[in-house]
Amino acid sequence: MLPPVRIAPSLLSADFVRLADEVRKVEEAGADWLHVDVMDGHFVPNLTIGIPVVAALKKVATKPLDVHIMITDPIEYAERYVRAGASTLTCHLETQPDALALIRSAGAHAGLAVNPETDVAPVRDWLDQVDMVLVMSVHPGFGGQKFMPEVLPKIEKLRAWGWEGDIQIDGGISTATVGDAAAAGANVFVAGSAIFGSADWAGTIAALRETATARFAGGR
Ligand code: DX5
Ligand code: ZN
Repeated sequence: MLPPVRIAPSLLSADFVRLADEVRKVEEAGADWLHVDVMDGHFVPNLTIGIPVVAALKKVATKPLDVHIMITDPIEYAERYVRAGASTLTCHLETQPDALALIRSAGAHAGLAVNPETDVAPVRDWLDQVDMVLVMSVHPGFGGQKFMPEVLPKIEKLRAWGWEGDIQIDGGISTATVGDAAAAGANVFVAGSAIFGSADWAGTIAALRETATARFAGGR
């Protein structure tokens, strides 16, 4: 049984001054999960939000917080992000994948992310400890970058191994790129600029969902 198609708007492209309103509006527009990008200015060349903001989001969100930690030391911080309210917490293979066990024992779903230049082969050894694999389709650090189709074979490989859990794709997802990602086998779609930069968030989310569903697993 393959997992359902889910749309996860990235709050990185939301208006940070009005975050509670943005959460409410994007949930009403049809978001399944809220993707939260945590950056430490070390693993990636940008700083965004941290534990107190995740805790604040948890107070207003009705949808699961899908927290993507682009940080060098997930072992040090994982439990605190789960306690702050992450439903899924995704750390990077390039950092400390041993954090996965901590994430699960703290009570969240565990995600493992791979950067565009990172080989997916080592992920296979971690699959029994993860609920979701995140394939980055841009170099992490910033929203609004161009989709890298060359990462799609990694998704095909994961499905060929028989992985039936979630596969998330993050970076440059729009109505133009979501179909190919779904056809490769991705089922969770992060989109920041494509949703928050559009005039009609509900229309954009519906269009992403429609195209993804039509192409995922041959449009089951
Ligand atoms: C990039 C982040 C993404 C980003 C996606 O480092 O992990 O989640 O917000 O933004 P878009 O959809 O604009 O590429
Ligand atoms: Zn992300």
